[in-house]
Amino acid sequence: MLKDKNVILGVTGGIAAYKSVEIASRLRKAGASVHVIMTAGAQNFVTSMTFREITGNPVITTMWGEITNHQVEHIALAELADLMIIAPATANFIAKAAAGMADDMLTTTVLATKVPIFFAPAMNSNMYNNQLTQANIKRLVELGWRFIPPASGHLACGTDGIGRLPEPAEILDFVENELSHEEDFIGKKLLVTAAGTYEPIDPVRYIGNRSSGKMGYAIAEAAKKRGAEVTLVSGPSALTAPAGVKLVRVETAAQMRQAVLEFFDEADIIIKAAAVADYRVREVADQKIKKNDDELVLVLEKNPDILFELGQKKKSGQILVGFAAETQHLLEYAKAKLEKKNLDMIVANDVSRKDAGFNVDTNAVKLLYRDGTVQELPVMTKYKLANELLNMVIKL
Ligand code: PMT
Repeated sequence: MLKDKNVILGVTGGIAAYKSVEIASRLRKAGASVHVIMTAGAQNFVTSMTFREITGNPVITTMWGEITNHQVEHIALAELADLMIIAPATANFIAKAAAGMADDMLTTTVLATKVPIFFAPAMNSNMYNNQLTQANIKRLVELGWRFIPPASGHLACGTDGIGRLPEPAEILDFVENELSHEEDFIGKKLLVTAAGTYEPIDPVRYIGNRSSGKMGYAIAEAAKKRGAEVTLVSGPSALTAPAGVKLVRVETAAQMRQAVLEFFDEADIIIKAAAVADYRVREVADQKIKKNDDELVLVLEKNPDILFELGQKKKSGQILVGFAAETQHLLEYAKAKLEKKNLDMIVANDVSRKDAGFNVDTNAVKLLYRDGTVQELPVMTKYKLANELLNMVIKL
């Protein structure tokens, strides 16, 4: 994918800048011509000489120096490039990009180029989670710029949390993955469900589960980027809908069923990643239940199985994919669901693993098909998995 491509690698001032050296090296090994632009902050962490040696190209460190090579200086570089990667992207740089500022060579190039831009944020967790940073990221994503999700772990500031720059190999994987799937879903309508449902007990309480929506939102985002028209029916989730995706918010399983049925007929592909509550409270209290007795008995009744219903209604040409979240007998239970619900593929999700399933950024699954084939995928980010699933779906 990267062979013979002109890649601008923007390096901003964070401790993770040392990892950019390996990114530059890997890009070069992949056959790309790498042009590094460093902000003033970045030069406190790594020298330009390192990048010059690794890339074999001059490194741009200022807008104001002598122009040594007119082919690669200033706006010319923005026009020459095939893609741009900013790694690490600090909170400050993201804020400047979101504000449309152009006060150094890197911000200027970001504004001047029309090629895909990938940001790999790396910063302290609080800075990353800050509403301003999140609003800036959201704005850039809405404008079509791409973000490589930061990893979680030990941070340079001594705390643990989200904000680490992913490993260079993962960054390149992400970029290649994105570029290789451009637009193969054009003309396809995709219906995705995500997150858990809330089944009310009384006006303030509900029965829910630990689904964050990350898996379903990743599928919606990947499909949208590959050109699909995507409707995302989501239970309660803190996530922001991917740009360009039609989001239908629901709360209960009954509402999810209604929304899904509304879009089912026109959908070419349906992927049900939502964790739908199997039971709901039979009699929902009108008022908040008071704690008078030592025991409280709630009678639960079965919710409709939406996926089963879709399997019955499925028309020829429609592809129906379900998930199976299991803590034991993974393959056996998933196979039974594949058959009973008349699916084309089921994603068997061992949710007892720490690095897979509910409310984590990675997943590890096995894919089961109608002909009995089972395909095991290694642990990977949910976004990467989303693309792997779409690769399988397009084959189906
Ligand atoms: O949201 P995250 O935090 O990222 O977590 C992702 C996930 C673990 C929720 C996801 O990867 C996953 O496994 N989703 C399926 C969860 C689930 O409810 O599995 P299940 O085995 O109970 O259901 C099987 C299938 O039937 C699912 O596709 C489900 O959407 C569907 N179903 C279940 C019950 C019901 N009443 N109606 C349904 O349509």
